[in-house]
Amino acid sequence: MAENSILSARQVSKRFGGLQAVDRVSFEVEPRGVTSIIGPNGAGKSTLFNLISGTFLPDSGEVVFDGKDVTHQAPEQKLASGMARSFQITNLFFDLSVIDNLRIASQRLESSQQLLKPFSKSRLALQRTDELISEFELERAADQLAGALSHGDQRRLEIAVTLATRPRLLMLDEPSQGMSQADTQETAELIRRLSQNMAILLIEHDVDLVMDLSQHVVVMAQGQKLAEGTPQAVRANPEVQTAYFGEATA
Ligand SMILES: Nc1ncnc2c1ncn2[C@@H]1O[C@H](COP(=O)(O)OP(=O)(O)OP(=O)(O)O)[C@@H](O)[C@H]1O
Ligand SMILES: [Mg+2]
Repeated sequence: MAENSILSARQVSKRFGGLQAVDRVSFEVEPRGVTSIIGPNGAGKSTLFNLISGTFLPDSGEVVFDGKDVTHQAPEQKLASGMARSFQITNLFFDLSVIDNLRIASQRLESSQQLLKPFSKSRLALQRTDELISEFELERAADQLAGALSHGDQRRLEIAVTLATRPRLLMLDEPSQGMSQADTQETAELIRRLSQNMAILLIEHDVDLVMDLSQHVVVMAQGQKLAEGTPQAVRANPEVQTAYFGEATA
């Protein structure tokens, strides 16, 4: 239960006009490993992410991170608390180099006074940028424009950018979207490696990837949590098969 969780969503709900996009969804995320959220298009997965990350305020329910109620925190505060997310649509600066994308993201580690000074004086940001360049083996790509990278490299750079603030929870919305098989495999290895030291919450349509990477799977359908459990348990669940896997194999 809560003692072992880094994140708890408790009865979280969000309505858009007449549509109950997220309906009393609860689940827990452990401090290490991969928890995935799956479900058909429009099931409410990204909305649930938005409620957890602070993009939207839930109509009701609570979000608890590291034992603290963060339900009403703004995204910036949540980032400072150690929660970070990537978007289904990219948040890179395509006209800037790889290293500048990482520097800008790493600037958040500096105090606000430091932000007025030149990059060259931002010791923490420069150090973090170096770490990310080396961890993601971006040495040779450092001066390329982000917009010139392959799609797979862009998505991985996006993960590096999201990690700049050293979050303890990384939320990834469809990181393999539009990727080749080889890129998907490379990204899977990256996620697996990162999950040894942090919690990863993943929204993903690639069911094989989800089954391969996750320790825990939450299945959503029409705003509600339909089931949760180990990948094997979820896959064997008849309701899930009808709502989700049935659709994929029909
Ligand atoms: N800002 C918004 N305003 C109004 N309706 C919204 C908004 N965001 C999402 N919705 C609606 O809420 C429902 C859930 O959308 P959401 O994007 O959370 O689904 P999803 O599970 O992420 O789908 P996908 O797999 O296609 O990404 C959909 O019917 C969507 O049209
Ligand atoms: Mg979505």
